[in-house]
Amino acid sequence: MGGLEGRVAIVTGSGQGIGRAEAEVLAARGARLAIWDWHLDLAEATAAHIISHGGVAKAYRVDVGDSLRVESAMEQVRSDLGPVSVLVNNAGITRDNLLYKMSEDDWDTVMNIHLKGAFLCSRAAQADMVKHRWGRIVLTSSTSALGNRGQSNYATAKAGLQGLTRTLAIELGPFNITVNAVAPGFIDTDMTRGTARRLNLDPEQFKEAISSTVPVGRVGVPEDVAHAVGFFCDPESSYVSGQVLYIRGGP
Ligand SMILES: NC(=O)c1ccc[n+]([C@@H]2O[C@H](COP(=O)([O-])OP(=O)(O)OC[C@H]3O[C@@H](n4cnc5c(N)ncnc54)[C@H](O)[C@@H]3O)[C@@H](O)[C@H]2O)c1
Repeated sequence: MGGLEGRVAIVTGSGQGIGRAEAEVLAARGARLAIWDWHLDLAEATAAHIISHGGVAKAYRVDVGDSLRVESAMEQVRSDLGPVSVLVNNAGITRDNLLYKMSEDDWDTVMNIHLKGAFLCSRAAQADMVKHRWGRIVLTSSTSALGNRGQSNYATAKAGLQGLTRTLAIELGPFNITVNAVAPGFIDTDMTRGTARRLNLDPEQFKEAISSTVPVGRVGVPEDVAHAVGFFCDPESSYVSGQVLYIRGGP
């Protein structure tokens, strides 16, 4: 593999789940990893795993919706690891509810973490990328962007991220920075296990039921998304920008 030797990569929400797999894939390709998560213990576990496999990684406690913390963490990463050339905006949560039960707080919290978080982190990271005329930014949309019952807040944020992806690709392209998005379907993580529990379903039975609707006959695992992120971040993917790649085991 390789390709990212010496480059500094930030993956937000990489304490567990999809983000952790993404950080591990980028580290395996030679990147020096900044592990951002609002749970420092999870971030430290990911960093320790990467280091134990011969990589370079450092953990940071960051809430991506907090602009002051994003700016200060970016500065810390620069001084600890060097200028940032890869950013994967992955941190996210769900606050599902049918419209009539959805609170203003459910709406604002999801918008703040997914949409504002990706905006704040991308704005902070682009400075190094523009300066060095090289960068890779990946955003995390979802098949929910196409509409999903009980997720008016999440689906709206995930659709908005597709607009942000295309716009940043246009603005940053002249600086040799590509911006793309992954849009996963059902991936087996804490997030989807939480959804099963909220629906009063057994997570294993929920997975089986979903698998039967997926053309390849299984649900996704974090590595399925991580390898797509690895492709977007590859130096040889420099003519791939503004794209949204659905990772859902079928069309
Ligand atoms: N699991 C799926 O089926 C699926 C499908 C489509 C999209 N996604 C998206 O993929 C991303 C990762 O999801 P996952 O399934 O791995 O979830 P997860 O809950 O397993 O992991 C999310 C991580 O993000 C961190 N996080 C949450 N809010 C944060 C914040 N404000 N600042 C910093 N860190 C924060 C959490 O602590 C956690 O470590 C999310 O954006 C999610 O919306 C997931």
